[in-house]
Amino acid sequence: MMTVNPSFHETQPLVIAFGSDHAGFLLKKRLLNLVEKQKYVVIDCGTMDQHPVDYPDFAERVVQKVLNHQADRGVLICGTGIGMAMAANRHRGIRAACCYDVYQTLMARQHNDANVLCLGERVVDEKMAHQCLITFLQTEFEGGRHQRRLDKID
Ligand code: RB5
Repeated sequence: MMTVNPSFHETQPLVIAFGSDHAGFLLKKRLLNLVEKQKYVVIDCGTMDQHPVDYPDFAERVVQKVLNHQADRGVLICGTGIGMAMAANRHRGIRAACCYDVYQTLMARQHNDANVLCLGERVVDEKMAHQCLITFLQTEFEGGRHQRRLDKID
């Protein structure tokens, strides 16, 4: 079951940093359009077109926003989401989850306190990607035994 904390959003909108490479650019653009209509503050860290770029450069931009507390959470999109997750998870304090459906995304928040969602434009359709994103933004971490397990990662 999804846990939502509406009071948090009423007082302080979540700040979300988005980043993609060329293979994730179109999905990023569409998700940004959807999210900007809702009560979130969005930072677009690029890329800004479909010219080929290297995904670690954009993972780095988003990760730094999260680690420096300029963003509450990050969203990284490439062809599969895999390279972005690999790059982001090199950083202590980043818990990047590559998700392909709503259940994975729900668990990534409830059990893993994921602070970065990685999506693949070539492997999820826009509707599923949107559902994953909303789940990522609206689901709270359950804490308890899951916090103990996260502590062991770091
Ligand atoms: C780019 O062709 C592709 O390799 C990249 O977007 C990503 O899927 C890597 O994980």
